[in-house]
Amino acid sequence: MRILGIETSCDETAAAVVEDGHTVLSDVVVSQIDIHKRFGGTVPEIASRSHLETLLPVIEEALERASLRFADVDAIAVTHQPGLIGALLVGVAAAKTLALALDLPLIGIHHIAAHIYASWMQSPTRPEAPFVSLVVSGGHTTLFRMDDPFTAVEIGSTIDDAVGEAFDKVATVLKLGYPGGPIVDTMAKGGDPKRFPFKSPLLKKDGLDFTLSGIKTAVLYLVNGMNVRKEALPLTEANVKDVCASFQHQVVEALVRGTMNAVATCGASAVVVGGGCAANSQLRERFTQECERRGLGLHLPSRRLSTDNAVMVAGLAFHKFHRQGADDLALDAVAS
Ligand code: KG4
Ligand code: ZN
Repeated sequence: MRILGIETSCDETAAAVVEDGHTVLSDVVVSQIDIHKRFGGTVPEIASRSHLETLLPVIEEALERASLRFADVDAIAVTHQPGLIGALLVGVAAAKTLALALDLPLIGIHHIAAHIYASWMQSPTRPEAPFVSLVVSGGHTTLFRMDDPFTAVEIGSTIDDAVGEAFDKVATVLKLGYPGGPIVDTMAKGGDPKRFPFKSPLLKKDGLDFTLSGIKTAVLYLVNGMNVRKEALPLTEANVKDVCASFQHQVVEALVRGTMNAVATCGASAVVVGGGCAANSQLRERFTQECERRGLGLHLPSRRLSTDNAVMVAGLAFHKFHRQGADDLALDAVAS
């Protein structure tokens, strides 16, 4: 079964064709980063307009790269929640139109479920249930207990900002550009992670919830000189690297610890990490070490499938269709 997937929930316009949930026939992602970066973040109205201009050429490109025509596609899948409402509406309207015109099943996909699926869609084995999923992206920092590979029950989350949001904010404070995650990741490599002992973003040592606003503000005060140091921190290369390394160290350690607390709570035997921040080098290294040490299975998406894409949408749709059937044309975009 060949499914055409569409993803427009934030600032990536993406389309992909995936066969039987696993074989990627094409994968096209057009990022709007260059459009939004002068504003220091995604501007929702501009994102919607840009999806409108880009989506049809992106879909055509996905078919062309797969050497397929519309007639060769068996179903249309689309991210319909959560995300920016205007951005989601563009994808949902396009998907409904295609499904109606081509008389194909329409499958609505939850973006977070797709991020979880991306972590194991290309591995030879499914994670063994019960397992724990951590989704860390620009909009989410959430822990789930999974009693089967497709059913997620939320057991912990951030009480304020998402991890990706904090990375982006720290990069802005350090004048490193947007989006900050990949830049902070690179800068942290040469820095001293112990130089600035920021407070852990894990709310309680043995808990499952996180708080990112404190560490974000601590970086702001450190750089602008608003704490006891009084003086601003000169943004020399060495200082910037140390701030990035110290911030990233605390965030990654909090995520590892919170996830291991969840593993203990659920009696889980495997861990899945998904979302844009799963591309972070230190996060990948630390989860690999910690899961190896505890004999836990670990599923991480490739870096390509960590950030927003339509492969995970088309892939998950295959399983959803076989479990629940298609959605009807009343499928709606839902922001949260
Ligand atoms: O999943 P995603 O593409 O979009 C949302 O659903 O939000 O995640 C985007 C987030 C951004 O905040 C970006 O800075 C972060 O993922 N990110 C990273 C890295 N690559 C992307 N964060 C840390 N390290 C990275 N290497
Ligand atoms: Zn995402």
